[in-house]
Amino acid sequence: MQHFEGKVALVTGGSSGIGRAAARLFAQRGARVVIAARGVERGEEAAHEIVEAGGEAVFVRADVGNAADVEHLVARTVEVYGRLDYGFNNAAVAKGAFALTADFDEEEFDEVMGVNLKGVWLCMKHEIRQMLAQDPPGGAIVNTSSVNGLGGSPQGALYSAGKAGVLALTKSAAQDYAQQGIRINALVAGAFHTPMLEGVFQKISGGDPSKIAAVQAQYTGMVPMRRIGKPDEAAEAALWLCSDAASYVTGHSMIVDGGWTASMR
Ligand SMILES: NC(=O)c1ccc[n+]([C@@H]2O[C@H](COP(=O)([O-])OP(=O)(O)OC[C@H]3O[C@@H](n4cnc5c(N)ncnc54)[C@H](OP(=O)(O)O)[C@@H]3O)[C@@H](O)[C@H]2O)c1
Repeated sequence: MQHFEGKVALVTGGSSGIGRAAARLFAQRGARVVIAARGVERGEEAAHEIVEAGGEAVFVRADVGNAADVEHLVARTVEVYGRLDYGFNNAAVAKGAFALTADFDEEEFDEVMGVNLKGVWLCMKHEIRQMLAQDPPGGAIVNTSSVNGLGGSPQGALYSAGKAGVLALTKSAAQDYAQQGIRINALVAGAFHTPMLEGVFQKISGGDPSKIAAVQAQYTGMVPMRRIGKPDEAAEAALWLCSDAASYVTGHSMIVDGGWTASMR
């Protein structure tokens, strides 16, 4: 098991789902963790849960789509813990889906790109500057993409485009900073039991509780492992990409999907 003793990890979207699992695992393995999200109550609760379990964590409120918030987030991380070793840029909204491509409006395009794509870039921008400036320099960044970013998805053009953009940002930045000790990779997530996916099931089933099980079974049926992933199973991959065990891995898109897209690749 990789230990992160003395290291500092920033997890955006760390108050829920995959990010919350990653924050907990980072802390269990010795990292000091900064959890970022918009919602204060859930964020404070996530940090409190780690501290109660004997770990170190603080919550910093930030909207990743807001440049000033992200600049403050990284500055606050350094103020509290002295440096930044790992950035897990994982926050996103499940917008830009459930409509045909021509039926989205401009506001939805701007919102989904503003959070899911620009948000990742803003986080990388400030994290990289910090990682270059600190002593010793360097670090590792993982950006959360989705299998929808690989091949697109019906009625999911904007969400998919944002997630495809995350892959291009990741691969480009990985090449830019490979010689400066910063590794940058992407977690390409399949389906995981989180509030976001529960929301998707709700939407597809039209809010009818009797139909939710059928929708879930439909998803499960597409996955060769015949189950939806647990948040910890996505988080473990992100932590491995951050760890020294992945010291020669950069610009990689790590697909963690129970085999869902294996036949399409
Ligand atoms: N679950 C899946 O099946 C699945 C599949 C593929 C990819 N993914 C990706 O995995 C990542 C995590 O998703 P999840 O399923 O764990 O979702 P989740 O449970 O809904 O958690 C999303 C997190 O992001 C935060 N967030 C949302 N908008 C934000 C913003 N503008 N600024 C800062 N924080 C923001 C949320 O907190 P606040 O709302 O309080 O800000 C929350 O902490 C996302 O990138 C998602 O696209 C998930």
